[in-house]
Amino acid sequence: DAFLPVAFVIGYLLGSIPFGLVLTRLAGTQDIRSIGSGSIGATNVLRTGRKGLAAGTLLLDALKGTAAVLIAFRIGGSDAALVAGLGAFLGHLFPVWLKFRGGKGVAVYIGILLGLIPAGALVFCLLWLATAFTTRYSSLSALVAAFVTPLFLWWFSDPKLTSLAVVLTLLLFYAHRENIKRLQSGKESRIGEKA
Ligand code: G3P
Repeated sequence: DAFLPVAFVIGYLLGSIPFGLVLTRLAGTQDIRSIGSGSIGATNVLRTGRKGLAAGTLLLDALKGTAAVLIAFRIGGSDAALVAGLGAFLGHLFPVWLKFRGGKGVAVYIGILLGLIPAGALVFCLLWLATAFTTRYSSLSALVAAFVTPLFLWWFSDPKLTSLAVVLTLLLFYAHRENIKRLQSGKESRIGEKA
Protein backbone atom coordinates (compact mmCIF):
# COMPACT_ATOMS: atom_id res chain seq x y z
CA ASP A 1 0.00 0.00 0.00
CA ALA A 2 1.68 3.14 -1.30
CA PHE A 3 -0.06 5.40 1.21
CA LEU A 4 1.40 3.75 4.32
CA PRO A 5 4.72 5.67 4.33
CA VAL A 6 2.75 8.89 3.81
CA ALA A 7 0.48 7.96 6.71
CA PHE A 8 3.56 7.41 8.86
CA VAL A 9 4.97 10.83 7.96
CA ILE A 10 1.63 12.58 8.58
CA GLY A 11 1.47 10.86 11.97
CA TYR A 12 5.06 11.73 12.80
CA LEU A 13 4.61 15.41 11.90
CA LEU A 14 1.46 15.73 13.99
CA GLY A 15 2.98 13.77 16.87
CA SER A 16 6.11 15.88 16.91
CA ILE A 17 4.21 19.11 17.68
CA PRO A 18 5.42 19.74 21.27
CA PHE A 19 2.28 21.28 22.76
CA GLY A 20 3.72 21.32 26.27
CA LEU A 21 6.61 23.43 25.07
CA VAL A 22 4.41 25.64 22.87
CA LEU A 23 1.88 26.37 25.62
CA THR A 24 4.48 27.08 28.31
CA ARG A 25 6.43 29.30 25.89
CA LEU A 26 3.27 31.26 25.09
CA ALA A 27 2.55 31.58 28.82
CA GLY A 28 6.12 32.68 29.46
CA THR A 29 6.99 30.10 32.13
CA GLN A 30 10.42 28.61 32.67
CA ASP A 31 11.59 26.22 29.94
CA ILE A 32 10.02 22.93 31.01
CA ARG A 33 13.01 21.07 29.64
CA SER A 34 15.07 22.61 32.43
CA ILE A 35 12.73 21.70 35.31
CA GLY A 36 11.54 18.45 36.90
CA SER A 37 12.07 15.49 34.64
CA GLY A 38 12.84 17.72 31.64
CA SER A 39 9.99 16.09 29.74
CA ILE A 40 7.70 18.16 27.53
CA GLY A 41 4.62 16.26 28.71
CA ALA A 42 1.66 17.33 30.85
CA THR A 43 3.07 15.85 34.08
CA ASN A 44 6.14 18.03 33.80
CA VAL A 45 4.13 21.08 32.73
CA LEU A 46 2.17 20.60 35.98
CA ARG A 47 5.46 21.12 37.85
CA THR A 48 5.36 24.76 36.75
CA GLY A 49 2.28 25.04 38.98
CA ARG A 50 0.08 25.97 36.02
CA LYS A 51 -2.75 23.42 36.08
CA GLY A 52 -4.53 24.91 33.07
CA LEU A 53 -1.41 24.62 30.95
CA ALA A 54 -0.96 21.01 32.06
CA ALA A 55 -4.58 20.21 31.19
CA GLY A 56 -4.18 21.91 27.82
CA THR A 57 -1.02 19.94 27.14
CA LEU A 58 -2.73 16.67 28.04
CA LEU A 59 -5.69 17.48 25.79
CA LEU A 60 -3.73 18.70 22.78
CA ASP A 61 -1.10 15.94 22.99
CA ALA A 62 -3.93 13.41 23.08
CA LEU A 63 -5.84 15.02 20.23
CA LYS A 64 -2.82 15.10 17.90
CA GLY A 65 -2.75 11.30 18.21
CA THR A 66 -6.48 11.08 17.54
CA ALA A 67 -6.17 13.44 14.57
CA ALA A 68 -3.30 11.44 13.04
CA VAL A 69 -5.28 8.22 13.24
CA LEU A 70 -8.54 9.67 11.93
CA ILE A 71 -6.95 11.59 9.05
CA ALA A 72 -5.01 8.52 7.91
CA PHE A 73 -8.09 6.33 8.26
CA ARG A 74 -10.12 8.61 6.00
CA ILE A 75 -7.46 8.58 3.30
CA GLY A 76 -6.07 5.08 3.53
CA GLY A 77 -8.23 2.89 5.74
CA SER A 78 -7.47 0.92 8.88
CA ASP A 79 -3.87 -0.11 8.17
CA ALA A 80 -2.98 3.51 7.41
CA ALA A 81 -4.59 4.53 10.69
CA LEU A 82 -2.39 2.10 12.63
CA VAL A 83 0.76 3.25 10.85
CA ALA A 84 -0.14 6.90 11.48
CA GLY A 85 -0.67 6.07 15.16
CA LEU A 86 2.82 4.59 15.36
CA GLY A 87 4.19 7.64 13.53
CA ALA A 88 2.47 10.02 15.95
CA PHE A 89 3.84 8.15 18.95
CA LEU A 90 7.39 8.18 17.60
CA GLY A 91 7.01 11.86 16.66
CA HIS A 92 6.02 12.70 20.22
CA LEU A 93 8.80 10.68 21.85
CA PHE A 94 11.49 11.61 19.33
CA PRO A 95 10.69 14.99 17.72
CA VAL A 96 13.30 15.93 15.15
CA TRP A 97 12.75 19.61 16.05
CA LEU A 98 13.90 19.05 19.65
CA LYS A 99 16.95 16.92 18.95
CA PHE A 100 14.72 13.85 19.40
CA ARG A 101 14.00 14.66 23.06
CA GLY A 102 10.24 14.76 23.47
CA GLY A 103 7.67 13.40 25.86
CA LYS A 104 6.90 9.99 27.30
CA GLY A 105 3.80 9.11 25.32
CA VAL A 106 1.01 8.86 27.85
CA ALA A 107 -1.40 11.47 26.45
CA VAL A 108 -0.70 10.55 22.84
CA TYR A 109 -1.22 6.84 23.62
CA ILE A 110 -4.67 7.71 24.96
CA GLY A 111 -5.43 9.87 21.92
CA ILE A 112 -4.35 7.16 19.48
CA LEU A 113 -6.60 4.65 21.25
CA LEU A 114 -9.44 7.15 21.20
CA GLY A 115 -9.22 7.27 17.41
CA LEU A 116 -8.87 3.51 16.96
CA ILE A 117 -10.88 1.95 19.76
CA PRO A 118 -12.48 4.36 22.26
CA ALA A 119 -13.13 1.56 24.78
CA GLY A 120 -9.36 1.01 24.89
CA ALA A 121 -8.81 4.67 25.69
CA LEU A 122 -11.37 4.40 28.47
CA VAL A 123 -9.64 1.33 29.94
CA PHE A 124 -6.27 3.11 29.79
CA CYS A 125 -7.68 6.20 31.55
CA LEU A 126 -9.44 4.18 34.25
CA LEU A 127 -6.29 2.20 35.00
CA TRP A 128 -4.25 5.41 35.08
CA LEU A 129 -6.72 7.11 37.42
CA ALA A 130 -7.05 4.10 39.74
CA THR A 131 -3.27 3.84 40.09
CA ALA A 132 -2.82 7.60 40.43
CA PHE A 133 -5.43 7.88 43.18
CA THR A 134 -3.81 5.07 45.16
CA THR A 135 -0.11 5.87 44.59
CA ARG A 136 0.03 9.48 43.31
CA TYR A 137 2.80 8.47 40.92
CA SER A 138 2.08 9.69 37.38
CA SER A 139 4.76 7.48 35.89
CA LEU A 140 3.66 4.31 37.69
CA SER A 141 0.08 4.99 36.64
CA ALA A 142 1.20 5.20 33.02
CA LEU A 143 3.25 2.01 33.31
CA VAL A 144 0.34 0.07 34.82
CA ALA A 145 -2.15 1.39 32.25
CA ALA A 146 0.19 0.72 29.34
CA PHE A 147 0.97 -2.77 30.61
CA VAL A 148 -2.65 -3.85 31.01
CA THR A 149 -4.23 -2.14 27.98
CA PRO A 150 -2.68 -4.50 25.37
CA LEU A 151 -4.08 -7.45 27.33
CA PHE A 152 -7.53 -5.87 27.12
CA LEU A 153 -7.08 -5.30 23.39
CA TRP A 154 -5.89 -8.87 22.90
CA TRP A 155 -9.22 -10.08 24.25
CA PHE A 156 -11.51 -7.46 22.76
CA SER A 157 -9.97 -6.31 19.48
CA ASP A 158 -7.90 -7.65 16.58
CA PRO A 159 -4.26 -8.78 16.33
CA LYS A 160 -3.07 -5.75 14.36
CA LEU A 161 -4.41 -3.30 16.91
CA THR A 162 -3.00 -5.40 19.73
CA SER A 163 0.41 -5.49 18.03
CA LEU A 164 0.43 -1.72 17.71
CA ALA A 165 -0.43 -1.39 21.40
CA VAL A 166 2.39 -3.78 22.36
CA VAL A 167 4.87 -1.68 20.39
CA LEU A 168 3.55 1.56 21.94
CA THR A 169 3.81 0.01 25.40
CA LEU A 170 7.41 -1.09 24.81
CA LEU A 171 8.28 2.43 23.62
CA LEU A 172 6.47 3.95 26.62
CA PHE A 173 8.44 1.75 29.02
CA TYR A 174 11.65 2.77 27.25
CA ALA A 175 10.68 6.45 27.58
CA HIS A 176 10.05 5.89 31.31
CA ARG A 177 13.38 4.18 31.97
CA GLU A 178 14.60 6.95 34.30
CA ASN A 179 11.22 6.98 36.08
CA ILE A 180 11.46 3.21 36.59
CA LYS A 181 14.87 3.63 38.22
CA ARG A 182 13.53 6.40 40.46
CA LEU A 183 10.49 4.30 41.42
CA GLN A 184 12.80 1.43 42.36
CA SER A 185 14.99 3.67 44.50
CA GLY A 186 12.04 5.52 46.05
CA LYS A 187 13.08 8.83 44.49
CA GLU A 188 10.21 9.38 42.08
CA SER A 189 8.22 12.57 42.76
CA ARG A 190 4.49 12.29 43.29
CA ILE A 191 1.75 14.24 41.54
CA GLY A 192 1.50 17.66 43.13
CA GLU A 193 5.08 17.62 44.42
CA LYS A 194 7.54 19.99 42.88
CA ALA A 195 10.39 17.87 41.58
O1 G3P B 1 3.37 11.60 31.55
C1 G3P B 1 4.64 11.12 31.79
C2 G3P B 1 4.66 10.63 33.20
O2 G3P B 1 4.31 9.28 33.20
C3 G3P B 1 5.97 10.86 33.84
O3 G3P B 1 6.38 12.18 33.59
O4 G3P B 1 7.70 14.20 33.90
O5 G3P B 1 7.31 12.64 35.82
O6 G3P B 1 8.81 11.98 33.99
P1 G3P B 1 7.63 12.78 34.36
